[in-house]
Amino acid sequence: MIGRNDPCLCGSGLKYKRCCMGKDLAISENIKQKYLREHKIRLKERGDIEAIKRAGGIAINTLNTVEEMIRPGITTDDINTFVHQFTIQHGARPAPLNYRGFSKSVCVSVNEEICHGIPGDRVLKDGDIVNIDVTSILDGYYADVSKTFFVGTPGPDALKIVKVTRECLKAGISMVHPGNRIGDIGWVIQRYAESQGCSVVREFVGHGVGFEFHEAPQIPHYGQKGKGITLVPGMVFTIEPMINLGNKDLHILDDNWTAVTDDGSLSAQFEQTILVTENGFESLTPYDLNEPLFSP
Ligand code: MF3
Ligand code: CO
Ligand code: CO
Repeated sequence: MIGRNDPCLCGSGLKYKRCCMGKDLAISENIKQKYLREHKIRLKERGDIEAIKRAGGIAINTLNTVEEMIRPGITTDDINTFVHQFTIQHGARPAPLNYRGFSKSVCVSVNEEICHGIPGDRVLKDGDIVNIDVTSILDGYYADVSKTFFVGTPGPDALKIVKVTRECLKAGISMVHPGNRIGDIGWVIQRYAESQGCSVVREFVGHGVGFEFHEAPQIPHYGQKGKGITLVPGMVFTIEPMINLGNKDLHILDDNWTAVTDDGSLSAQFEQTILVTENGFESLTPYDLNEPLFSP
């Protein structure tokens, strides 16, 4: 418990009793202005957070439902059709559609595809891994979430990269606490991934989210402990490590979107939208990161 005379959790440097004590969320107008001015970060208030959570509910629901249709023989376009319909039916809009020219409603990235796979006629086959990245807009608020699934029965490489990547997201989330820094998140992720002989993608990062699809700040999945912007309550951002089984280098396909590993090795990704609270974090797109990875 924080005492009346302790430094306020919002980071103002004032005593708690002179600052955010008694407020719903520890965000002072000072810090709000400071983060906007210095970092272009828009801190979220309680009402914003509830709205992002509602968008997150639809995104999670979409992801959970789409999971049931994943099996060998379906195409990535089948996934897109489902995500599009389901999102609209629930009163939301799929953020990817027409975003900077993206032509589909969801990103679907298979095996060596790191992210931003465009749904099409690729057929999923037994042993593949597939990341499905859903971003829903509800009442103008955005929530961004993804998971990597197994198609049929995974081989040892598929099991390993998915397991390591999910652990990376867990490790990253565990660092989210007021007073910690953005660099702490990347640092634990990189340390764990590399300890397992895997590599961290540098070109794509987590991001502020809520009022827009991609806001400040950037959240790299690599970096140094104690470096970067200090986390304060009301920050909402994604953590979405992309981890490769081989080398970290990548290239973009001729479709101008799909990022693939240079060495053809498998790549996985897990993403949640995370709020910094007074006590630590709350996921606004929660799903279980501890369930058994593969149940035959
Ligand atoms: N959902 C992705 C992310 O996690 C962004 C996809 S951009 C798109 O940030 F245009 F490809 F949809
Ligand atoms: Co994202
Ligand atoms: Co995403």
